[in-house]
Amino acid sequence: MDLEVELDTHFGIAHTRWATHGEPSALNSHPQRSDKNNAFVVIHNGIITNYKELKKYLNSKGYEFESETDTEVIPKLIKYVYDNREREDLSFSTLVERVIQQLEGAFALVFKSHYFPGEAVATRRGSPLLIGVRSKYELSAEHIPIQYNRYVIIKKVALFKVTSDTSGDGKAVEYYFASDASAIIEHTNKVIYLEDDDIAAVVGGKLSLHRLNSLAGENPVRAIQTLQMELQEIMKGNFEAFMQKEIFEQPESVFNTMRGRICFHTNKVILGGLKDHLKEIKRCRRLIVIGCGTSFHAAVATRQILEELTELPVMVELASDFLDRNTPVFRDDVCFYISQSGETADTLMALRYCKDRGALTVGVTNTVGSSISRDTDCGVHINAGPEIGVASTKAYTSQFVALIMFGLMMSEDRISLQPRRLEIINGLRILPDMIKKVLTLDNKIKSIADELYQQKSLLVMGRGFNYATCLEGALKIKEITYMHSEGILAGELKHGPLALIDKHMPVIMIIMKDACYTKCQNALQQVTARSGRPIILCCQDDQEMSKNAYKTIELPHTVDCLQGILSVIPLQLLSFHLAVLRGYDVSLPLPALSLWTLIT
Ligand code: M6R
Repeated sequence: MDLEVELDTHFGIAHTRWATHGEPSALNSHPQRSDKNNAFVVIHNGIITNYKELKKYLNSKGYEFESETDTEVIPKLIKYVYDNREREDLSFSTLVERVIQQLEGAFALVFKSHYFPGEAVATRRGSPLLIGVRSKYELSAEHIPIQYNRYVIIKKVALFKVTSDTSGDGKAVEYYFASDASAIIEHTNKVIYLEDDDIAAVVGGKLSLHRLNSLAGENPVRAIQTLQMELQEIMKGNFEAFMQKEIFEQPESVFNTMRGRICFHTNKVILGGLKDHLKEIKRCRRLIVIGCGTSFHAAVATRQILEELTELPVMVELASDFLDRNTPVFRDDVCFYISQSGETADTLMALRYCKDRGALTVGVTNTVGSSISRDTDCGVHINAGPEIGVASTKAYTSQFVALIMFGLMMSEDRISLQPRRLEIINGLRILPDMIKKVLTLDNKIKSIADELYQQKSLLVMGRGFNYATCLEGALKIKEITYMHSEGILAGELKHGPLALIDKHMPVIMIIMKDACYTKCQNALQQVTARSGRPIILCCQDDQEMSKNAYKTIELPHTVDCLQGILSVIPLQLLSFHLAVLRGYDVSLPLPALSLWTLIT
C-alpha cells in the first residue's frame, strides 16, 4: 500500500476487536480484503461458524487466503458472487444479501468496495449494529420503512429535509455504523437499531434499509430513536481506566438499580417490567437463569436466595453449555437471560431456543434497546449506566441486586418469609454506604497487589453465598492480568485442588460469618496445614481469621445473601492493580466496539 497517496474519500471503516482466530497481527486484523486490489473490504464483529466449509469451497474456485481469520471468507465470497453475477447492474446491497444467506454464526458487517465508490453496506445477524445519524438539519421522518423488493434497485429514502445534494457543503448528513451507542454518542444521539438480517445501504448520501423477505407480524419500519445518554457518562473522568471508574461508581450504580423500585417505607418491591407477568411466573415449574461469563456468575451468586424466596427450583446455566446439551425446556418454564450488553450471541441463541419451546422469557440487561431487551417477553433494566471497561464490574453488582429484587417481589405475599425479606430490604437500603466503605480499602489492596503481581497463579476459595465471588474474582484476574487464576469451591478442596497448596501458591479465601463459616474454617485449616499463606477476606473484627491469615481484608458485615456484592469489590480492585503492575492497558477504551464512519 502506498501511504503517500492522498485519498479523497468520505467513507472509512475500522475495527477494534479481540482476535478470535489467529494471533493478533496486521494480517489478521480488519478490514479483511477480497484481494490485493481491495475490490471488497469488510469489517466483522462476531464469529462465522461455517468458515471452514466456505474457505474450502472458495479455495476450490481459486481464491487464495492470506489470514487465519474466519472473517476473510466474507470479502472473498462477495468477490466470488460479484465475479459470477448474472447481470451487470446488481446493486452492492443485493451482493451482500446473497453473501449473508451463505453465512452461519453471528455477525455485524460493514462492506466497502471500489466497484461501488462512496457506497456503504452494513448488515447484522446475532451481533449488534446500529446507525447513528447526524445533521444540522431537522429530520423529516421518525422512522424509515423497510424495502422488501428482491433484486430491485432499492428506492432511496431521504432522512433529512436537507441532504448532501442540496446543502452544497457536502457534509449535510453523517452516518455512523457502530456496535454500541457509546462509540458514537459524542457525534449524535439519533440512532436506528438494526434487526437481524436487515441490510442498510448508503448510496448517493441517502440511507435505505431492506430485507430479503417480510415475516408475518414483522415491524415494517425502523424507528429513529433519541438516546438520553450523556457524553460524560461514558468518559473516564480522572480515573486511569474505565474499569477503575466503573468499580468506584458502584455505590451509585446499585442505588440506581433500586431507585423507584424498592420502597423502604412500605417494604414493597415493584419491578415495572415484570409486574404484569408475575402471576404467570408464580405458576411456573422452574426458573432457568442463563448467561455467559460475569453475567452467569450473577446467576450463581443469587441462585440460593432465589430458591429460598421463590420456593421454586432454580437452574443456572452457561448459555453455550445449555445449547450444547439441547436442554429440555417446557412451556411452563420461565427463562431469565442475564446480559450486560444484551447482545451476547450465545445468550441470544439460548433465548431463541427457549422461545421456540414456548417458555416465558425474561431479560435482565443493562442496555436499553438491545436485542435481549427487545426479544424477551418482559424484563428488568439494571440501570447501571454504560459499562465501557472490558471487565464487567458494576454490571455484576447491579445484576445481583436486580435478581434479588425479583426474589423479593415474588415473596411479597408469603407470610413466613417476611422477616427474611425485611432483613434483606434493610441490607439493600444501606448497601451503597457499605460499598463506599469497601472502596476505602483500595490502598491496602494495592499493597497486596504489589506483593502478588509477579506470581504465576492465584487461587480464590470460598463456598455458599461466596462461591460466585470466587468464580467472578478469578475471571477478572484471568481476563485483565493474563495471570492464571481459579475459583475453587472450598467444599471441593479435599477432592483434588488441595494438591496445589504449598507455601509458594498465593491463595485468597473468602470466609464470612454465615452458615458456611465453620466449614470454611475447616478449609482454612487444610490450607495452613500445607503451609499455605492465605489472604483472607473476612468480616470486620473477626479475631479468629486474623490469627490464621497471612493477611486479612476486613469487610463490613451484611446480610448473608448480599455479602457477595461487598466481597467481589476487593477482587475487582485487586485485578485492576495487578493488571496495571503487570504492564497491561486496562483501559482499552471502547472495548469490543467497532466504529465505522461514513460522511456524505
Ligand atoms: O454482555 P454480557 O453480560 O452478556 O457479556 C457476557 C460476558 O462476555 C461478559 O460478562 C464477560 O465475561 C466479561 N467481560 C467479564 O469481565
